[in-house]
Amino acid sequence: MKEEMIVTPWEVRGEIDYDKLIKDFGLSLIDEKLYKKLGKYMSNNLFLRRKIFFAHRDLDFILKEFEKGNKFYLYNGRGPSGHTTIGHLISFLFAKQLQKAFDVKYLIQLTDDEKFLFKDKLSLEDVEKFTYENALDIIALDFDSKKTKIISNLKYAKTMYRQALRVAKKLTFSTVRAVFGFTNDTNVGSIFFTSMQSVPAFIESAKQNKKVPCLIPHAIDQDPHFRVARDILPKLGYYKPASIQCKFLPGLGKGGKMSASEPDTAIFTIDNPKDIERKVTNAFTGGKDTTEEQKKFGGEPDICSVYQYFYFLFEPDDKKLKERYEKCKKGKILCGECKKDLAKRINKFLAEHQKKRKRAKKVIDKFMLED
Ligand code: TRP
Repeated sequence: MKEEMIVTPWEVRGEIDYDKLIKDFGLSLIDEKLYKKLGKYMSNNLFLRRKIFFAHRDLDFILKEFEKGNKFYLYNGRGPSGHTTIGHLISFLFAKQLQKAFDVKYLIQLTDDEKFLFKDKLSLEDVEKFTYENALDIIALDFDSKKTKIISNLKYAKTMYRQALRVAKKLTFSTVRAVFGFTNDTNVGSIFFTSMQSVPAFIESAKQNKKVPCLIPHAIDQDPHFRVARDILPKLGYYKPASIQCKFLPGLGKGGKMSASEPDTAIFTIDNPKDIERKVTNAFTGGKDTTEEQKKFGGEPDICSVYQYFYFLFEPDDKKLKERYEKCKKGKILCGECKKDLAKRINKFLAEHQKKRKRAKKVIDKFMLED
């Protein structure tokens, strides 16, 4: 039996039906016209070309304002519940490309408070440690500290709390219960939390005392937070935040997204080459039981997790990607070979990333906002 699809900001499970999510959440697909318009600023972008970023709210508004000279800023974030996986990097990488194309400011929120509230086992000390570790991964992607700032909700609490209160005052329990499915057993911190996630979407406006458009590149599971924010922010005199939303990088197992809570099917940025080889070797491919059968019947790249990694990140050349796809279908390339290629590419990327991550320790203070 197929596992039921569950997509909330705190849980993603089952086979993901993106068409259904678009409908349920009330999102717009990025149509060809809008892809083209974005393409004027970021031509040949992999995440757009492959429709990994595929849905939005008010992206057309953001571009129209930009063309009028009204610059937006970028905002997204990560909940520091563990080490960073490669899947987490996608939104940061794409934000970096947007930042370069439009030359705009970028705010990143690390919701240590959220992870403390929502994860039974995590202490405040744990989430603080992961805030630091996750910040290193972001900085390792080569950002300019003059235009890019990182918020830890705990460390920047004075500024954050003051603004979150303004949101919380306009937000009822009945709304958050309906949007997030909370119950009488939900702790009161969790009920309040979405107010904190909305703050970076208007903090520039609050600081500059004028309306500044905000664009949030994020994975589709976070949409419920911004649905709420889009209701409340106009009541405080700000624009509704806009978004550009992506699909999930699957885990190396069968179905679902890559999840830090399933360490054997997730690739962490701190993994060593041996870990990578082991995880990739054990990955789900949908391949046949024997070499003979594979050669005769071919493989199924559409359900293969290894192929997805080439598609999302590790084969930038469209022609080569297509070749791999077709060879697989015809049984001309075997799972072992794809796995070897992938492990090699991941390890090459991680070797470089881990060096930059070390260097990030020296500059982290330039990125973190504190009050
Ligand atoms: N709640 C997100 C998570 O659990 C972290 C986050 C905070 C975020 N602000 C965001 C994600 C803005 C995307 C966009 O990972």
